[in-house]
Amino acid sequence: MDRLALLADPAVRSAFGFELGRGLEYHASIASTQDRGRELARSGLAGATLVVADQQTAGHGRGDKTWLSEPGTALLASWIFRPAPAEPALFALLAGVAVARALRTFGVADLGLKWPNDVWLTGGKIAGCLAHGTGSECVIGIGVNVSQRELPREIAETATSLARAGHEVDRLALLARITQELDVVADPAVRDDALAECRRRSITIGREVEVTITEKDRIRGKATGLADDGALLVETPYGQQRVIAGEVRVLG
Ligand code: BTN
Repeated sequence: MDRLALLADPAVRSAFGFELGRGLEYHASIASTQDRGRELARSGLAGATLVVADQQTAGHGRGDKTWLSEPGTALLASWIFRPAPAEPALFALLAGVAVARALRTFGVADLGLKWPNDVWLTGGKIAGCLAHGTGSECVIGIGVNVSQRELPREIAETATSLARAGHEVDRLALLARITQELDVVADPAVRDDALAECRRRSITIGREVEVTITEKDRIRGKATGLADDGALLVETPYGQQRVIAGEVRVLG
C-alpha cells in the first residue's frame, strides 16, 4: 500500500515534516519539484524545506534531459539544504549513496552507482539525482522509479523500477528514509565513509569509458578512480584527466 498521498492532509504533512526536521510541501501535480525547490531557495524565505509530488508534468534531469514518470509511480522530491553541505556535483554523488543506503533498508541489495549521479539495479537505472547550488544553499532533487510495471518507451531499455525488480516499497516510507540518509551524507564529519561507499558501489570505476564533456569535447580511457571532490579520474593515452561533469558511456 502506498501512503504518499496522505501528505495532502495538512495535519499529516505538518507532523511528518516535524519528524523529518523540515518544512514540507506536497503537490498532487507540479511541473518539477526541483524548479519549485530552486524558486523557494531563491526567495530566501524557505529554510530546510522538502518539496514532494505525486506527479511531475515537466520533470527534468541533467542537461536538457527530461525525467519521465507516470502519475503515482515514482518518488519525486527535492530538498533544500542551507547551508550547502558540498559543491552541487559532489552532493549529487553523495545523494546516490544516500539513496542506495535507504533502499538497502527495504531489502534492495546490489545497487550500483554510475558516475555522476545514477543509481543502478540489475537491469537498469532505478534513480537519478540532480543538484543545483548557489554556494549558500543546495537543492538536491531525486527521482526513484518505484511501482512502474511498464516504463515509457523512451527509457524502457535503460531504466527499471523497484516493482520490476520484485520490491514493493511505500513511497512515504522511502521519502523518510532517504531524508534521514541525506542528512547523514550532508555531515562533513562522515564524508570519508560516504565517499568510500561511493567508490565501492561504483559501476564506472575500472571500466573503459567515453565521457562527453561538451558536444565537441569527448575523451576515451579507463576510469581509474574518484577524487575527493567527486571528479572522475580517467586514464587516457594523453595522461590522467579529471572530469568534473559529463555524460559517461561504458565501453567495456
Ligand atoms: C538525472 O537522472 O539526470 C537526474 C534526474 C533527477 C530527477 C528528479 S525527480 C525530482 C526532481 N525534480 C526534477 O524535475 N528532477 C528531479
